Amino acid sequence: MYLLIPAAGSGKRMGSEWQRQGKAQRNKLLLDLIGKPVLAWTLLAAEASSTIEWIGIMGQPIDFDDFNQILADLNLRKPVTLIQGGSTRQESVYNGLQALPTEAQHVLIHDGARCLATPELFDRCSASLKQYDGLVAAVAVKDTIKVVDETMSIQDTPDRANLWAAQTPQGFSVPLLKQSHDEGKAKGWEVTDDAALFERCGLPVYIVPGEETNLKVTTPVDLAIAQFILQGRTQ
Ligand code: C5P
Repeated sequence: MYLLIPAAGSGKRMGSEWQRQGKAQRNKLLLDLIGKPVLAWTLLAAEASSTIEWIGIMGQPIDFDDFNQILADLNLRKPVTLIQGGSTRQESVYNGLQALPTEAQHVLIHDGARCLATPELFDRCSASLKQYDGLVAAVAVKDTIKVVDETMSIQDTPDRANLWAAQTPQGFSVPLLKQSHDEGKAKGWEVTDDAALFERCGLPVYIVPGEETNLKVTTPVDLAIAQFILQGRTQ
């Protein structure tokens, strides 16, 4: 299985964590999480997966020296290719798809910031690609979700039983995902995950059970929770 890791974001919502770690604001995936950069934990899970065979990381060229240092420190057995990211996540994934080896039939896309995903989750998604051409790891939402208008007046309360919080990995047939990205680019669709492009093209996407601990490290609170969970795993 081929894996693309979008890792070209900036980390604007990390707030005071940059000062706390004595670093200038750059890529949150380079922040320290119990002795390793956030991205290193994501890569270790991909390395431990029994189905992932090839890893592509989309990053900003300014981060490539740091990424290469992480790769040298981890000394992974699996081949890793660095790919230039874009100015949005959507563009980064688009670039990643162009850089896939031609023989790739299926691909998993997994945010570098979801550094707590387990190898078993990668393998569950890989296995489900035998059945589906589009899938998303997701968990049932615990909160009641409100839809609001621009004045913050609530417009709707959708039935929670039908609501799932989308995570990554998301898995797809490569030709169909390329087609969806091409159509999205041509029509100017702006989306925050790949499944949304698939859906807008009228292609079916199925949910695979995700993991409650598979949070996206976005704010200092997420980093603190990630630290707590990882410490529990490494004890
Ligand atoms: O900002 P957010 O956490 O939602 O980003 C999700 C993932 O997409 C992160 O792993 C981030 O590095 C990546 N990303 C990217 N290219 C961008 C913006 C975000 O690869 N231009």
